Amino acid sequence: MAVCACSRKSEEDRFIDDLLSRMTLEEKIGQMNQLDPSWNAEEKEALIREGKVGSIFNIVGAKEVNRLQRMAVEETRLGIPLVAARDVIHGFKTIYPIPLGQGATFNPELIEQAAQATAKEAYQYGIRWAFSPMVDVAHDPRWGRVAEGYGEDPYLTSVMGAATVRGYQNDQMVNDQMVPGMAACVKHFAGYSASEGGRDYNTTWIPETQLRDIYLPPFKAAVEAGAMSLMCSFNDLNGLPSSANHHLNVDIFRDEWHSDALLVSDWGSGSDLVPHGLCADKKDAALRCINARMEMDMQGNIYNDYLTELVNEKKVNEQMINACVRSILRLKYRLGLFDNPYVPEDTPAPGDAELALRVAEESAVLLKNNGILPLNDQIVLITGPLAHQKKEQLGTWVFDGDTSLSITPLMAFEQMVNGICPNGKLIYEPGLTFSRDKNPVGIAKAVAAAKKADVILYFCGEEAILSGEARCRANLDLPGAQIEMMDALVATGKPVVMIVMAGRPLTIGRQVDQAAAVLYAFHGGTMAGPALYNILTGKVVPSGKTPITFPKMVGQIPLYYNRHNTGRPSYDPPMLIDSIPIGCPQFSIGQSSYWLETPTEPLFPFGFGLSYTTFEYGETKVCQSERRSVSENGLSAERSVSPKDGLYTVSCTIKNTGSYDAYETPQLYVRQLSGDLVRPLCELKGFQKIFIPAGETRDVTFTLTDDDLGYWHESHDGLSSRVWFATDDADFRFAILPYSQPLVPKDK
Ligand code: NOJ
Repeated sequence: MAVCACSRKSEEDRFIDDLLSRMTLEEKIGQMNQLDPSWNAEEKEALIREGKVGSIFNIVGAKEVNRLQRMAVEETRLGIPLVAARDVIHGFKTIYPIPLGQGATFNPELIEQAAQATAKEAYQYGIRWAFSPMVDVAHDPRWGRVAEGYGEDPYLTSVMGAATVRGYQNDQMVNDQMVPGMAACVKHFAGYSASEGGRDYNTTWIPETQLRDIYLPPFKAAVEAGAMSLMCSFNDLNGLPSSANHHLNVDIFRDEWHSDALLVSDWGSGSDLVPHGLCADKKDAALRCINARMEMDMQGNIYNDYLTELVNEKKVNEQMINACVRSILRLKYRLGLFDNPYVPEDTPAPGDAELALRVAEESAVLLKNNGILPLNDQIVLITGPLAHQKKEQLGTWVFDGDTSLSITPLMAFEQMVNGICPNGKLIYEPGLTFSRDKNPVGIAKAVAAAKKADVILYFCGEEAILSGEARCRANLDLPGAQIEMMDALVATGKPVVMIVMAGRPLTIGRQVDQAAAVLYAFHGGTMAGPALYNILTGKVVPSGKTPITFPKMVGQIPLYYNRHNTGRPSYDPPMLIDSIPIGCPQFSIGQSSYWLETPTEPLFPFGFGLSYTTFEYGETKVCQSERRSVSENGLSAERSVSPKDGLYTVSCTIKNTGSYDAYETPQLYVRQLSGDLVRPLCELKGFQKIFIPAGETRDVTFTLTDDDLGYWHESHDGLSSRVWFATDDADFRFAILPYSQPLVPKDK
């Protein structure tokens, strides 16, 4: 980590070679085993003392981690340290917004800082290995784990995932003391988010070209950022579960990417090969996994149980085991565990609440505003099931999150009551007590309270447990009686500002129409309350952008911005179900790709988010290095003769035309209009988050190489290769936009 890469390499290799040469087969296999506390304590400790455990996880606390570490270091023959792992997903005691909300910040520098602060907190509790970031590109908000990733776009996910890896893994100085980095574990390799129907653990079918264009780039970016480990996924990918997938784990991860990171299974994903229907029994599963180079077995114990036997039967070559153990020892070496196996047992210092506040502020997306926001000196009613829920605002995967640190929206408004809402101008009546609550009595109370208010702040959405692993939903409406409550609040005639706290995009089209303003906050973490207060009252100008498309209805899913146009794009306006004449002939409703209930357009597109100010985008200018041709209409650039040397400079000017100083995120989109393969309507290739004072203009410039425009192409023999400018007359368009939009008229 902090050591020079070149000298470290050889020193590291020498160290590992020497250690490996002294290990017995049993000790090697022991390193490939990871245990959690669900193991019987005596049995677990006996295994550690015998050198049959490489890693522990879900054991938290410096003293306890050190106690087990002492057994490994002081009582085993070779004294190889354990590495303590944990699901550290979006913070430790101090919780940052869920990763989907982090995606909405479009601010990788900030996310890197949050990861670094998280690593510092986790270290104080003994944790040296985090099972995150999750970089599964997700097109399906029904899938509960959409909350854990950075959204639907491969580029945004790559940038955010790499930032998190850097933040975790970099050593840092804290009060003159070096805090070593925490190993990242990038997951779930690969294709997990494409589970059919958005149902967790389900089958995935992903053609090789799509796998490489959409699902793999964030993993590759994380590997290039130096990720120390990757985790296998649970799904079967085109019929082959990842833990047994040689093509993924060896051909791509090792041979193409040349990664030396450790590959760990997911929880029992090795033994799952039996219920998958791939293996007859666990021994067979161990064989399939080791042959596909799954290097460490999380919790399944199939390696400890069967590998020795498989080696003795000559079904497994010890060289393969050496390769796996080498990766494990390397991770430990790079974490400095051989020199410093123990963590300090001092009283942990508090986390960085200011940073958590900033990330929460930047993660909220303003979806609608009829001018009511920011609030003035109105009497506000704070209502809704999520206005004062210290735990729920933290979101999914917060095993260690300290609920007592949470500041809810209600608390924030109460604390700030002398500011925007002077004493006596704040009313609280929750209406519903949790998101699935259906009790009409509470709604009536909220309606009565609304009569005394000028503005209603309705904090609605989903409780934390409705998203995350195995928390998939077939219906994405507001749960419980929240829709009825919205109707009742709107019926009072008072303006309703809807603040949605949820783990995914919800189908809130009707409520958006009803509301005076809508702020989508995801689950904002410890500091969600003050962040929302600051935005609602104008102390902070909203700057979040949707990291995922918001569908109008579940039937549109999967719906994502970088889709293909089809040969028969949607009519504008489409012919919806009620407008079809009774008895009309079949031919009159053909020719167009849409649903009878809704056009193809989403409720909100990817990259969308309003501000309290307005921005005016100038013409996009494109310049290509060889010919230096600037296009007339600012859209298309001429091709170079030697495409691989091409370099594009794309720029535009943005003016803040409103009265607030604010951040804006110009996004560079590209479309290939014709070429060797059909390509998406637009693809994100860059973004910048820039601060523009009111009335001022700023220039933004992006540079792109031909590599950025390349895509994968399947050859006739089934092998994939990357192509650039697939045909000579490939025609590209470029545009710098405030959010994703198809780059040509639909009828073109
Ligand atoms: C299963 C989840 O899929 C994975 O993301 C997590 O890290 C492990 N369990 C460990 O808890």
